[in-house]
Amino acid sequence: MTLFTNIGQLVTVDAKGAPVKTGAHMSELHCIANAAVLADETIQWLGPSAEAPAGDYDVVDCGGGVVMPGFVDSHTHMVFAGSRAGEFARRLAGVPYAQIAAEGGGILHTMRSVRSATAQDLEEVCQGLVTSAMRHGTTTVEIKSGYGLDVDSELALLRAARAVAGRVPVSVHTTFLGAHAVPPEYKQNADDYVDLVVNNMLPRVASEGLAEFCDVFVDAGFFDAQQGERILRAAQHHGMKSKVHADEIALIGASQMAARVGAISCDHLEHTTADGIDALRNAGTVCTLLPGTAYTLRLPYPDARSMIAAGNIVALATDCNPGSCFTENMQTILSLACINMGMSVEEAITAATLHGAAALGIANQCGSIEVGKRADMVVYACKEYADVVYHFGVNHVSNVIIRGRVVA
Ligand code: NIG
Ligand code: FE
Repeated sequence: MTLFTNIGQLVTVDAKGAPVKTGAHMSELHCIANAAVLADETIQWLGPSAEAPAGDYDVVDCGGGVVMPGFVDSHTHMVFAGSRAGEFARRLAGVPYAQIAAEGGGILHTMRSVRSATAQDLEEVCQGLVTSAMRHGTTTVEIKSGYGLDVDSELALLRAARAVAGRVPVSVHTTFLGAHAVPPEYKQNADDYVDLVVNNMLPRVASEGLAEFCDVFVDAGFFDAQQGERILRAAQHHGMKSKVHADEIALIGASQMAARVGAISCDHLEHTTADGIDALRNAGTVCTLLPGTAYTLRLPYPDARSMIAAGNIVALATDCNPGSCFTENMQTILSLACINMGMSVEEAITAATLHGAAALGIANQCGSIEVGKRADMVVYACKEYADVVYHFGVNHVSNVIIRGRVVA
């Protein structure tokens, strides 16, 4: 048992046992000044230092810093190979992302790198990014496949992510994203590729227990809503929960489809309008916003203010991937969310912690600092939580605590 002392400001994000906090409640962080936390793997007690229970505990001094729940980055593509720096240069010169994709670059560029990579190559990239994410305050991360696009390569990506999960302190959740792009072998017949996903990939992923979630990229130039729905319903039969990449490039009914299948989260939403927002709220689907992608691709930012006003569950994640958003730093994502989507610092913190956990169905286990939850906490060398966003572009993390152990 460890007593974490000398916490200048403890940001609990206390939800009083509820899995989410919507509307104005998103801003309630429930902070305690001069606090302490007693924890083994889970939190046993928290409160003002002066009231800390006496006992023969290990003591960790938090240096008067700010302690927040670890970030739950619920949308990443952290397992891949190769670099897209060359494409980045072309995009800076004005070539659109969709044009590069249509020419066989983009996701297919990374697919070629992945197909010629070894398991060790994939694990190295993945472990490097997960470890770096942790040093920037992430204690739980979701990782998607989607750069293999054939049976063996998709399985290899998920196995690599699972291998890394066994080696890092961060909690890793995996998602099968076979429908990320149509591979060149199926260029003329996307439905045949959907058949392959449903009939060959999904049963293998399920029988090896490689993924908790199934995701689909439903957007112009990728998969249509009908194809996405077919895959997600098949995945549900295998026990996988649904996620959707929706409304990033164009409005083709993706968010409505996500609501219809009861997706646990619907992600991106750069172009989503009122009817999509309403459908997602009514379905209780988490809206996972990825402002790093809008930043990198110079897309319009998702309408976070309308979503929060409508009572949607809004989460924030990195989307860390080699193409549309190459960062594993959630502190940067908070800054983008506040500056470019008009979120308050308090809303952004709730979205990146408790609501990230909700997007993974684990808000009963982590995402806030509450008695009984996992002791996943991050110490920032700051005076107050706002500094993490206000003083941007630097890493404020001084300590990372996962399941009660100091890991970084
Ligand atoms: O979430 N939108 C689809 N997939 C990724 C981008 C993948 C890539 O460009 O490599 C995303 O933005
Ligand atoms: Fe993504």
